[in-house]
Amino acid sequence: MANDFTLRAMRANEYPLVAEIIYQSIRQWYGAHGRPGRFPAGVASCTIYPEVYEDLDPGCCVAAEDRSNGRLAGSCFYHPRETHVSLGIMNAHPDYFGRGVARTLLQYVCDFADREGKPVRLVSSAMNLDSFSLYTKAGFTARAVFHDMIAQVPAGGFPPALAGTSMARVREARPGDAVAMADLEWELSGIRRERDYQYIIENRRGIWHASVIESAAGKIDGYLVSVQHPASNMLGPGVMRTEEDAAAVILAELNHNHGRSPMLVVPAACGGLVKTLYGWGLRNSEIHLFQARGPAAAFAGVVMPTFFPETG
Ligand SMILES: CC(C)(COP(=O)(O)OP(=O)(O)OC[C@H]1O[C@@H](n2cnc3c(N)ncnc32)[C@H](O)[C@@H]1OP(=O)(O)O)[C@@H](O)C(=O)NCCC(=O)NCCS
Repeated sequence: MANDFTLRAMRANEYPLVAEIIYQSIRQWYGAHGRPGRFPAGVASCTIYPEVYEDLDPGCCVAAEDRSNGRLAGSCFYHPRETHVSLGIMNAHPDYFGRGVARTLLQYVCDFADREGKPVRLVSSAMNLDSFSLYTKAGFTARAVFHDMIAQVPAGGFPPALAGTSMARVREARPGDAVAMADLEWELSGIRRERDYQYIIENRRGIWHASVIESAAGKIDGYLVSVQHPASNMLGPGVMRTEEDAAAVILAELNHNHGRSPMLVVPAACGGLVKTLYGWGLRNSEIHLFQARGPAAAFAGVVMPTFFPETG
């Protein structure tokens, strides 16, 4: 029952407990569904989630405490932004699966968004009916489909020529780029989150990298972030005007992850880009859905979400 749990902001001394919830719930859920092996770096690597989300959104890391015994039963992280509220990494401890923890956490975030008058956005697995149903029952609608794809990046990187002449317009992101990145995302996907890009480019925790692609006139036509951490090695977020530009920034960020196997989330609607990525040897690992509760603009261009930081 909803009132079996007290919802409150996480305390810093609870991060190891939250890491345990994230680790156990993901490992158990995927293990039970035939895909074991998540978080190979162990439970301690998962403290990065509350650490980064508290950096970004103090007070928006939510814990669900079992009223009967004071134990933490679940956690989630929400991200209030200029245009929307997003929700990332929702977990119930396996001992509490099916007891309403996630529904109660989700209601908490939706109530916050309603008070702010903003839509709620998230990316959820199409292969996880527990989370798909959780969100659709709460009024979310699936709006876009994405391929999760895994790359095996050679130790020396992929040849830059794979992305043709567009590679010449790619460079590393600089602190002054955050405004133009936020403006481009607003134009192509209807959301704005400038502070996220400042945080990523500033890179105090030493785990992010970002590339931009410029037009002939020196304007930013696309960008892509990547995160390299034992708990998460993936590309995104990023938006690009064209699939050709997308291929170039993807190649740049893959090569920043040379010798590794990062994951990226690619719009299924961008068939030419998906075909290019198959040509580079990438393989499908899962399918994700962009879901929104409330209005969401149709995407123009290529929009690549991420799970960390998940603020899309
Ligand atoms: C997904 C997850 C968070 C759900 O947590 P939970 O606390 O067990 O979920 P709840 O008990 O609150 O149930 C959610 C709702 O989904 C409903 N539901 C689940 N499967 C369903 C199905 N196949 N069809 C319809 N409804 C379904 C439940 O009935 C419940 O709705 P109700 O309260 O109206 O009956 C949990 O399984 C988990 O932590 N999994 C591993 C991590 C993960 O996948 N997280 C999500 C993405 S990051």
